[in-house]
Amino acid sequence: MARPHIEFVYAQNLHWVIRPDGAEEKLLNWDPEGTEQTLIVRYPPGFSAGPNRVDAEAEEFLVLDGTIEIDGVMRGYHAYGFLPQGSGLGSRTTATGAVLLVFRHGRDDRNAKAGTADAIAIATPEMPWDVSTYDPKLSHLRLARKVLRLGPNDSGRTFLLTGMAHGVPTDGAKLAAEMHDHAEEMFMLQGAMWAPEGRMGPGAYFYRPPGILHGPHVSETGFLQIMRSPGANAIVTKWSDTPSSLPIGAAYAPVLPEGTPASWAREVEPVPAW
Ligand SMILES: [Fe+2]
Repeated sequence: MARPHIEFVYAQNLHWVIRPDGAEEKLLNWDPEGTEQTLIVRYPPGFSAGPNRVDAEAEEFLVLDGTIEIDGVMRGYHAYGFLPQGSGLGSRTTATGAVLLVFRHGRDDRNAKAGTADAIAIATPEMPWDVSTYDPKLSHLRLARKVLRLGPNDSGRTFLLTGMAHGVPTDGAKLAAEMHDHAEEMFMLQGAMWAPEGRMGPGAYFYRPPGILHGPHVSETGFLQIMRSPGANAIVTKWSDTPSSLPIGAAYAPVLPEGTPASWAREVEPVPAW
């Protein structure tokens, strides 16, 4: 069974679960019949652990807060890493504590294993933004991206995506919805984006299987998000023929997997700047 559609929840509504090793985690989405999952891990100050087990799933991560030394390299704000399965990597220690967004790959995913997948360590704040290419149908968002990983055998891309403030058409035009043959996954780091399911602010998360019609999206405030496209390294979009009204002001109406606790569906209000 594939990973279920969840669009979207706020990580702030999930409870921390303490692991036997002393770290805490929040599981955002997972394959009920596999090992692939997305979670937030909080390491307490003084935490340390040896390398990942040889059979442990590949680990892909973005540091959300704090600093952590992994394989001898200090990783700070928005450091990105990929630790292939069977690579012997992953030893970690943090003096001050750290919070990581983690994408755990499937145990049987050959495209995530050492020998096929490369280890990656990127201090993403030091990367230049790529503003060269984007779909003209998304020009209102004034997008830029940083590609962090292109998976082997077209297995999926991971990238940071940012859009400028005032990313809303000013001519009153409606916008087309979109669909892909691959999955999409997103965690909102900063800012906000309007969707028909509501306002995705910091901490908003979705996993969208292939073939789900979504959007349109606009952003009054601008945003910064980390996105993945499991199943394809290049995003191919089919646009709907019938444009939709802009979703500004849409009430929070998440799509949730069966059995999701009601507490996950609470709206998180934006924090005023005054
Ligand atoms: Fe999309």
